[in-house]
Amino acid sequence: MKTDEIREKYLSFYETKGHTRCESDVLVPTWDPSVLFTPAGMNPFKDHFLGKVKLDFTRATSSQKCLRTGDIDNVGRTSYHHTFFEMLGNFSVGEYFKEEAIGYAWEFITESLKLPKDRLWITVYLEDDEAFDMWRRIGLPEERISRWGEKENFWGPVGAEGPCGPCSELHIDLTPEGDTKGSLVNADSGQCIEIWNLVFIQYNANPDGTFVPLAARHVDTGMGFERVAAVMQSTNGFSDFSRPVSNYDTDVFSPIFAELEKLSGKKYAATLPGPGQTGQEKTDTAFRVIGDHIRTLSFSIADGIQPGNTDRNYVLRRILRRAVRYGRTLGFHEPFFFKL
Ligand code: ALA
Repeated sequence: MKTDEIREKYLSFYETKGHTRCESDVLVPTWDPSVLFTPAGMNPFKDHFLGKVKLDFTRATSSQKCLRTGDIDNVGRTSYHHTFFEMLGNFSVGEYFKEEAIGYAWEFITESLKLPKDRLWITVYLEDDEAFDMWRRIGLPEERISRWGEKENFWGPVGAEGPCGPCSELHIDLTPEGDTKGSLVNADSGQCIEIWNLVFIQYNANPDGTFVPLAARHVDTGMGFERVAAVMQSTNGFSDFSRPVSNYDTDVFSPIFAELEKLSGKKYAATLPGPGQTGQEKTDTAFRVIGDHIRTLSFSIADGIQPGNTDRNYVLRRILRRAVRYGRTLGFHEPFFFKL
């Protein structure tokens, strides 16, 4: 399934569940002055969750362009970190809550996308018996559901104000045999990655770390579009997990890599850096850095943010510099980035 089809499948699935399809917001947050770039699908809905602005619908779905720099040092070194990515999301503004959010997610992932159930592992917040019981009622055996603390399973703005709440995540085991029994969940392993986060918004976080219950409860979910595409496109219909699954082996990146191969004369071989990197590992890391950052720069500039000296413009300039620096590894000594 091509990425365009995956995105369409998601949005139309949620339309059949009564959700209004919303355009992605731009990368310069229009609703949320607390962030430099739109970091998640929920940001355009923040004021609706807080009850400050009314929508004329209560169910929404979107594929949101997102930009995050928190993981930038990992971008290029792993198969699944990005600065720019799309987040597929469904949102309930004061209407449905955990039961429907979990039910829809399971239906979509197992019936529409047909991901293999025996590779899926669920996490819930420590005290969230409700979410735990709902997953059980759907038919998940107890041993597939684990409980985690705030760091992993309570989602909210980091050090800032905003809607937040306990969350439940879906992780997929990508090992060749799929037999790690959940031991790689939340272990920073590319062989078991989080693909969807379901957040049950109940509070507003204050900058001083306190929480205030909100007047209504909401749902905010975020599925990693490039991650799901990777699982779908590199396993031959989930029948073959012998090759490492990588976001960069999808039709999102292959045209960029083809062009980069042409411009540089180097070949991408999908290796990940080990201790004491080989030449090919350095080349492949550079492909991934440049492939990620060209998307960040292109979408940002298209949304009106130019690399510059201050604020978000400076963040962008630094990403541009990082990409160009990695271009040296591919042998570029003249400007090449604009050609991509
Ligand atoms: N807002 C949630 C996230 O970013 C879905 O993970």
